[in-house]
Amino acid sequence: MATERTLVLVKPDGVRRGLAGEVIRRLEDKGLALVAMELRTLDRATAEEHYAEHRERPFFGELVSFMMSGPVVVQVLEGEDAVKRNRDIMGATNPANAEAGTIRKLFAESIEANTVHGSDSEENAAIEIAFFFKPEEIVG
Ligand code: RTP
Ligand code: MG
Repeated sequence: MATERTLVLVKPDGVRRGLAGEVIRRLEDKGLALVAMELRTLDRATAEEHYAEHRERPFFGELVSFMMSGPVVVQVLEGEDAVKRNRDIMGATNPANAEAGTIRKLFAESIEANTVHGSDSEENAAIEIAFFFKPEEIVG
């Protein structure tokens, strides 16, 4: 397995409830290392671009409003098989379908306010990391 990087967001519901540290702890415990991190509130253009693949979906407007509703913690995690490992730690999009012990099963409020975002492929991880961070903002 190769060392990969993936983009993780602690979404506004997670930051609002003080879960940023909890999310980081769970990722680090499973062998992923932080190589970049920023607390910021997304503007509309940034939230829309980040979720551009969902632009035509009925939930897009609500999703963008939710993502702008408070600060998020934007992170790059690095480690073996990081993209899939993070997705496994997060659990399924809908917390009702998420496996026991995953972040979304434990903490998500709803299918929308589901606490974390994670890149879904190495290709998208590279795009998302470059969207949020300059190369010199990533350590290591
Ligand atoms: P993410 O991109 O945030 O890591 O989530 P994901 O891959 O598990 O799911 P995706 O299909 O990419 O959906 C992106 C986010 O949109 C919200 N959503 N709302 N109301 C709904 O039916 C619905 N479906 C999705 C969630 O916040 C989801 O994580
Ligand atoms: Mg997704």
